[in-house]
Amino acid sequence: MLVDLYVRAFGWRVHADPRSSSRRLLWEIPTWRDVEVEVPLLSWLRMEGAAGDLTISTVNPGLVSPTCTRAPSLRRIIRKALSEEKRVSTKTSAADLVTETDHVVEALILQELQQRFPSHRELLTLEPDRWIPRFIAEEAAAAGAKCVLTPSPTWIVDPIDGTCNFVHRFPTVAVSIGFAVNQELEFGVIYHCTEERLYTGRRGRGAFCNGQRLRVSGETDLSKALVLTEIGPRRDPTTLKLFLSNMERLLRAGAHGVRVIGSSTLALCHLASGAADAYYQFGLHCWDLAAATVIIREAGGVVMDTSGGPLDLMSCRVVAAGTREMAVLIAQALQTINYGRDDER
Ligand code: IPD
Repeated sequence: MLVDLYVRAFGWRVHADPRSSSRRLLWEIPTWRDVEVEVPLLSWLRMEGAAGDLTISTVNPGLVSPTCTRAPSLRRIIRKALSEEKRVSTKTSAADLVTETDHVVEALILQELQQRFPSHRELLTLEPDRWIPRFIAEEAAAAGAKCVLTPSPTWIVDPIDGTCNFVHRFPTVAVSIGFAVNQELEFGVIYHCTEERLYTGRRGRGAFCNGQRLRVSGETDLSKALVLTEIGPRRDPTTLKLFLSNMERLLRAGAHGVRVIGSSTLALCHLASGAADAYYQFGLHCWDLAAATVIIREAGGVVMDTSGGPLDLMSCRVVAAGTREMAVLIAQALQTINYGRDDER
């Protein structure tokens, strides 16, 4: 017989089977809007206990876990590695970098989420006919895992966004975790590791940075705008020409400036904070965009496709702005750079 437990910390209705020694948990999401999901996750991202570690059971005693895992604070790992020598490899291009820390942090995040949500444990299989993607993660994708957004609850993880910054000790790096259900983005968490800024957004519940409500700028005039973009991984002459020409078009239209900070998630957080008026990019991935999309929308902003149509998380392109008028102006000014799709690799 199943006993229903209502676990408020994650708000998920959990059925614990008392016959099972492992207390395997099944779950469902009855009223997704009413739940508090993010709090334990946020604590985990930045908390450090007395020993520099934290124990899951102290974060979320309501979530029954057969074993007590010790998860080192991601902040501590990333900040320590930032100042050290790194082993750097390349992925799709000479400018698309990865370090051992990206792998370590991603493995920790996935392990932690799988332990918190045991029914997600089977995932990440690479066998196509058994594929039920509930985790999409940057380094798993680089290793060949499929990125398909299905109606299943799906965690979308970028362990270190701004890896090139990280390699160069340029202190603009973040961890990004988004979550979607029924292909709708439900919440996003982005942690600026060096400035200790924690950005959060929850559909219908607002967006915050360290507890302060975020609000986008209301600018509608491109000739008064500060615009953010990122270069993307390619450096071939055609892509570079289009990239520079897009920048030139916006500057010719009178934009006050165009900024490139080396982390698309943090640039998108600046937009959500009202510190810039628009963002556009070709060549970013769903893990760069998932969490930030919720944060921007909840801060009152607009996130759309570069064609001016609805956002397609898998399309590797985006325009975001504080106002629809601004987003449309930016979209109209851009020439497309085709990076393909995340779900077709
Ligand atoms: C990248 C960064 C970069 C942007 C790329 C992203 P990563 O993410 O955000 O600024 O130009 O498109 O993929 O590889 O550092 O996680």
